[in-house]
Amino acid sequence: MSKVLIAPAPLAGIDGRFLHVLKAAGFDICFPKRRAQLTENDLLEQLAGIDASLAGSEPYTRRVLDAHPQLKVIARAGVGYDAVDVEAATQHGVVVTITPNTNHDAVAEHTFMLMLALAKNLIDQHQGTVTGQWPRQANLPLRGRTLGIAGLGRIGKAVAIRGECFGMKLLSYEPFPDHEFARQHGVSFVSWETLLAESDYLSLHMPATAESRHIINRQSLAHMKPTAFLINTARGRLIHEGDLVEALMEKRLAGAGIDVFEQEPPGAHPLFQLPNVVVTPHAAGVDVQSRDDMAHSAAEAIVSLSRGEWPAEKIVNPEVQTCFQWKS
Ligand code: MLT
Repeated sequence: MSKVLIAPAPLAGIDGRFLHVLKAAGFDICFPKRRAQLTENDLLEQLAGIDASLAGSEPYTRRVLDAHPQLKVIARAGVGYDAVDVEAATQHGVVVTITPNTNHDAVAEHTFMLMLALAKNLIDQHQGTVTGQWPRQANLPLRGRTLGIAGLGRIGKAVAIRGECFGMKLLSYEPFPDHEFARQHGVSFVSWETLLAESDYLSLHMPATAESRHIINRQSLAHMKPTAFLINTARGRLIHEGDLVEALMEKRLAGAGIDVFEQEPPGAHPLFQLPNVVVTPHAAGVDVQSRDDMAHSAAEAIVSLSRGEWPAEKIVNPEVQTCFQWKS
């Protein structure tokens, strides 16, 4: 019987469609020993005898892949695959899959939650109100303000649609622009420098690649308005966190809404000491609906591959097809 590890902590104890799909296909289901973000060491131990991992954000490093030659599939519940050493996976004949079209709306909603929390000074007002200070003050609008969307893929588009409803002016930096979408929703494509300079709210929706690493750094922050807010629901490594902390402390940036960190979990992070920051624990992509849709789609990818099918639209490393074989 083939074994699947259900790695993401949000799936522990959930009797979702993903479990039914896997059980109906005859899989033996294994859960991690502890309900937390798994580390490399956890994976080294817990992938023993596992054929497929229904994966969260835990690190599938070369060390992990070398240690588990029986592993056949890493099926990410989500669209980012930066936690997987895809080159090592390909060399080991391991198929890496993602779940397109399952969490873009969740991320867009969370992006607006962070943006609104910053604009409306939610944390301070809540704390002030419950401690009896009644801190009434004029907050900031979204309407009429410029929303800069860095990356207009599926998630960036879901953010643009919501920005349009809020009456925001929409700018985007996107190397592969969809002009038809932009025309329909009133998005103007601009250069990276213009996006930085003109955004009142700048939201990052790019994949984490070698090119995008630390794209927000001292130089790019220097282009931004001191009244602007930065939102990151994409990946922590897009931002040089030290430079961001410095800009926030020196009031060269009004605030930041941060869901993702370079190291996760981040421990006692300097951003947590700052009043103009709102943080969440890499939660943007996971609401109950997207959690179920992501897990279901990942489970279906595993089952398809185990049956000799090839769910091409989900596969990150198609070059592995020639050597891929499912043998338990
Ligand atoms: C993604 O890669 O789509 C998200 O990071 C999924 C998640 O939050 O686990």
